[in-house]
Amino acid sequence: MSLPHPRLRFAAPEDDEALAHLDRETWSTLHAVVPRARQPYPAFFNDRFGPRDHVVATLDDRIVGYVRLGRPTALAANAHVRQIQGLAVADGARGHGVGRLLVRTAIAEARRQGARRISLRVLGHNTPARRLYESEGFVVEGVLPEEFLLDGAYVDDVLMGQAL
Ligand SMILES: CC(C)(COP(=O)(O)OP(=O)(O)OC[C@H]1O[C@@H](n2cnc3c(N)ncnc32)[C@H](O)[C@@H]1OP(=O)(O)O)[C@@H](O)C(=O)NCCC(=O)NCCS
Repeated sequence: MSLPHPRLRFAAPEDDEALAHLDRETWSTLHAVVPRARQPYPAFFNDRFGPRDHVVATLDDRIVGYVRLGRPTALAANAHVRQIQGLAVADGARGHGVGRLLVRTAIAEARRQGARRISLRVLGHNTPARRLYESEGFVVEGVLPEEFLLDGAYVDDVLMGQAL
């Protein structure tokens, strides 16, 4: 069954709880390197990442996914690069193109901001995300072998990027 077309918009301050909830619901060691959140739950937005650093996908006004686009560092010498620093789609909305739409939007937004390159980091065992990124033009530019120990297994951190 196909989903209705998702709508895309920048996040707003009022989205904090819905986004924090989505992050908790989608948490897994397939993509997360931080432990599962515990109460009291932290806010989603913080000093580093505010609403305008996120594009959300909604279905019937409900947030079903988001992408976070930021700068890899605050250095002026690094200002021409943007990085996808978060991507998640609600379980029930997966497999219908929402993730692809969000990645495409992040690429377009990075280009609109004048960036020359876009990069990201993805865990080696995260096959769904790696397939998605590859099919949207990202290539593997480096691998940090066994960078994380998750659930008792060492996992590579894969660096991907593309020119804009
Ligand atoms: C990765 C994720 C965002 C994909 O979202 P989605 O909305 O299901 O993705 P789409 O429906 O747009 O699928 C796009 C492509 O991703 C790949 N993909 C998605 N799910 C897949 C799966 N289970 N296995 C293999 N490839 C998969 C396919 O290449 C797919 O293209 P296709 O439909 O033409 O085969 C989603 O699985 C998710 O939220 N995962 C947990 C969080 C995460 O891993 N984030 C990335 C952190 S780096």
